[in-house]
Amino acid sequence: MKIVFATNNVHKLREVSQTLGEDFTLVTPRECGVTEDIPENEATLEGNALAKARYIRSRTGLDCFADDTGLEVEALGGEPGVHSARYATDGHDDAANKRLLLERLAGKENRRARFRTAIALIDADGEHIFEGVVEGRIAREERGADGFGYDPLFVPDGCDRTFAEMSADEKNAVSHRGRAVRRLAEYLQNRR
Ligand code: IMP
Repeated sequence: MKIVFATNNVHKLREVSQTLGEDFTLVTPRECGVTEDIPENEATLEGNALAKARYIRSRTGLDCFADDTGLEVEALGGEPGVHSARYATDGHDDAANKRLLLERLAGKENRRARFRTAIALIDADGEHIFEGVVEGRIAREERGADGFGYDPLFVPDGCDRTFAEMSADEKNAVSHRGRAVRRLAEYLQNRR
């Protein structure tokens, strides 16, 4: 089954295609001729995911989905949340984001955090939202070289390693995105 995944993030693309398996062929916006940045200015993860999926649907008419992810840190009142990509700067600077997060948590005992992913799918039946959450904590320093974004700082519950110290399969098994994508896959498989 061919479906457009509204992302140009190669890490996300790899994670999602690994979880969806060989029954699905993911197509990127670029491969459909959509080369511009897709706007994501909504106030919630669900809103951003829907906005991105609607944008691709309106330009391609194809079945498509988009994800939006936020890191919610308890001691920071849920920040950076929907602002996770542009936490430190207006651009998308992972190193600056991680530095700022460690700075804001300096001296705080409570390191509890969760990753939340919202996936919006648009198909002939309409719009659908799938969510995935993983609870964990923020490490005192970066560890590991794999993954992307905040992965070197996030330790999921029940584990001593950060996401960046795990294989892709290990991360997918417990991660926010892995959980949301398995819900999406279940829907797509039952739809056929
Ligand atoms: P977005 O979903 O691409 O908008 O991601 C928001 C922010 O969270 C960006 O800074 C990403 O790098 C980061 N992010 C998204 N997914 C993950 C993940 O699975 N691990 C670590 N960071 C992530």
